[in-house]
Amino acid sequence: MRILVVGSGAREHALAWKISQSPLVSAVLCAPGNPGIARVAKLVAIPADDVDGLARYARGDAVDLVVVGPEVPLVKGLADRLRKAGIPVFGPEAAAAEIEGSKAFAKEVMAAAGIPTAEYAAFTELAPAVEFARARGGKVVVKADGLAAGKGVVVCGSPEEAEAALQDMLVAKVHGAAGARVVVEERLEGPEASCIAIVDGERALMLPAAQDHKRVGDGDQGPNTGGMGAFSPTPKVSAELLEEVRRTVILPALRELARRGRPFRGALYAGLMLTPKGPRVLEFNARLGDPETQPLMMRVAGDIVPALLSAANGNLEGVELRTDPRPAVGVVLAAEGYPARTALDDAIEGAEGPFPEDVQVFHAGVRRATDGRLVTSGGRVLTVCALGRDMADARARAYETAARIRFRGQHHRKDIGLK
Ligand code: AMP
Ligand code: GLY
Repeated sequence: MRILVVGSGAREHALAWKISQSPLVSAVLCAPGNPGIARVAKLVAIPADDVDGLARYARGDAVDLVVVGPEVPLVKGLADRLRKAGIPVFGPEAAAAEIEGSKAFAKEVMAAAGIPTAEYAAFTELAPAVEFARARGGKVVVKADGLAAGKGVVVCGSPEEAEAALQDMLVAKVHGAAGARVVVEERLEGPEASCIAIVDGERALMLPAAQDHKRVGDGDQGPNTGGMGAFSPTPKVSAELLEEVRRTVILPALRELARRGRPFRGALYAGLMLTPKGPRVLEFNARLGDPETQPLMMRVAGDIVPALLSAANGNLEGVELRTDPRPAVGVVLAAEGYPARTALDDAIEGAEGPFPEDVQVFHAGVRRATDGRLVTSGGRVLTVCALGRDMADARARAYETAARIRFRGQHHRKDIGLK
């Protein structure tokens, strides 16, 4: 098989790396990829959001399966185009991807399917939204309805904070059209976990549960980021709880989407808060998580391609996914200034290995300069991943390798996997 991975981050590097080990695969292609991905795949110079270009390329170059990493091409209809052309694609069509593309739609699906989530209302007008927030003492979360690159959520502690967030989105339009409608929901408390399923429209194979670290600093201090690291498994999600999430969250969402004529194939990601009253869904994503995918790909034992292909073809019956019992951790090495003002073009040393066994360094904001050296090209530069005998061992191994990778202003959290 010739498999095309769409995207250019560390998530796509981890996917391409895992796919490249499959005996079913003759070629891994990646659009547009990055220098790390180039070690395991042939790069195709088409941007990840160029839906027309990607569809044309996949048809012309005899691609047997397309695996889509990021949400933007899915929301823009890449899977629709590929399916129409008869090319299997791991990723939902635009109508199903709306479960990520519109938070109001996601809440509607959850309400209709009886999926446990925070109480909420959706607004396009300021005054009723402010009133809803005030009635809850300002302990609410204000969310831009549309895609806002992970920046559209404000967790509020007072009526003033909530009003400011609502002003920003509904009046000042800081997120443009994505924030013209907002969801305001009750603020929940508890640890978070990411439960991701590979789904074929009806059936779901759960990946092991993972935990992300969204704040930039140790101990969850500082501003939110795209994710500073992840680990799996998490003691917070037992096998029983993961099965409960499959039964009460993932399968009902699939049934409700199918009932609405929007069958979902690909990766369905439930971001959960584990409250004293049980798990509550904070968000759905229509794709694999970043950075969760990086440690998760290290824990998938054996070939992942049958699961991806069967999900794409709508038939996961009888397909299994084996898991390495060893824990894995992924530490994101970020560029100077990230997430505020990110420095670019700093020379990177030590990112090309060789690395110890069961250590992988997945590239994200990395490009090759004209002189051949690797330089930074984005906020999250690399994810250093390691498997270990236990979490402490996995952490030690990841941090040992992280310490050997250098670029000006490099920073990372020291507490990934300690939670
Ligand atoms: P989301 O993109 O919807 O997952 O939100 C981003 C982050 O905001 C989550 O990872 C949580 O930390 C926080 N968050 C979202 N919804 C809630 C909620 N209802 N209560 C408390 N925190 C929330
Ligand atoms: N790790 C969170 C996300 O992928 O959205």
